[in-house]
Amino acid sequence: MLQGTRAVITGASRGIGAAVARRLEGEGARVVVASRSAGPTAGGATHVPTDVRDAGSVTRLFAAAGEAFAGRLDILVNCAGVCYLEPLAGMDLAQFDEMMATNVRGTLLCVRAAVPLMRAAGGGDIVNMSSALAARPITAGKGGYGASKRAVDAMSEALAEELDGDGIAVHTLAPTWVDTPMRRALFAEDPTWMSDDDVADALVFLLTRPAKVAVQALRLLPRARYYQR
Ligand SMILES: NC(=O)c1ccc[n+]([C@@H]2O[C@H](COP(=O)([O-])OP(=O)(O)OC[C@H]3O[C@@H](n4cnc5c(N)ncnc54)[C@H](OP(=O)(O)O)[C@@H]3O)[C@@H](O)[C@H]2O)c1
Repeated sequence: MLQGTRAVITGASRGIGAAVARRLEGEGARVVVASRSAGPTAGGATHVPTDVRDAGSVTRLFAAAGEAFAGRLDILVNCAGVCYLEPLAGMDLAQFDEMMATNVRGTLLCVRAAVPLMRAAGGGDIVNMSSALAARPITAGKGGYGASKRAVDAMSEALAEELDGDGIAVHTLAPTWVDTPMRRALFAEDPTWMSDDDVADALVFLLTRPAKVAVQALRLLPRARYYQR
């Protein structure tokens, strides 16, 4: 079903975004990947150096995607993200600002730049990476990151309504712990972590529902019965 579709994936230099890029390419999509550093790009994916916090950089990304895809786009996956887990009262404000600029503003900038290309294609799918940490209640030490992902949820809910008339579906994908460089930088390895390929599987599920079925939010949790804690 994804054969020949045109996709932009941000945050694809490693982790979940890289797994999503590999998977979509495997499904036959044409892929443009965006991040500050160039990761190992799968197959024929084109990497456009991009800082999603910067409006000019995002404009250049979608100009390049428009050129590669003859002015049309079917899929945007917003995976670019950063995570700092500190108690809010003492949190370094530069880290807080970076999370808001990357996770919230970066997601919105990419959506805004993608919409004209999706309208030209007659519709499309936008998947924004949220997190199970955005679910209630957000616990101690997770307030800044949780707030940024709850903002992603809120924007995505509004965008789903705003863009429905254009045939553009907006989804959030919210995994718990995923084995990626982000996760490994924060915590010791844990057997409940899922793999980045598990998240890519869920993303393909989202993208391949019948057009009349909207899966707006998908949460991925570890199943406790499979782990001895
Ligand atoms: N890992 C988890 O347990 C988990 C769980 C739930 C949700 N998530 C979310 O899933 C997404 C991917 O996470 P991950 O674990 O794969 O993280 P990761 O391994 O750290 O990868 C993050 C990606 O985001 C890119 N990025 C960061 N800042 C950027 C910027 N300003 N402009 C462009 N790209 C930027 C990085 O590339 P460059 O540094 O090269 O720019 C990298 O490709 C994030 O939104 C994260 O919040 C992760």
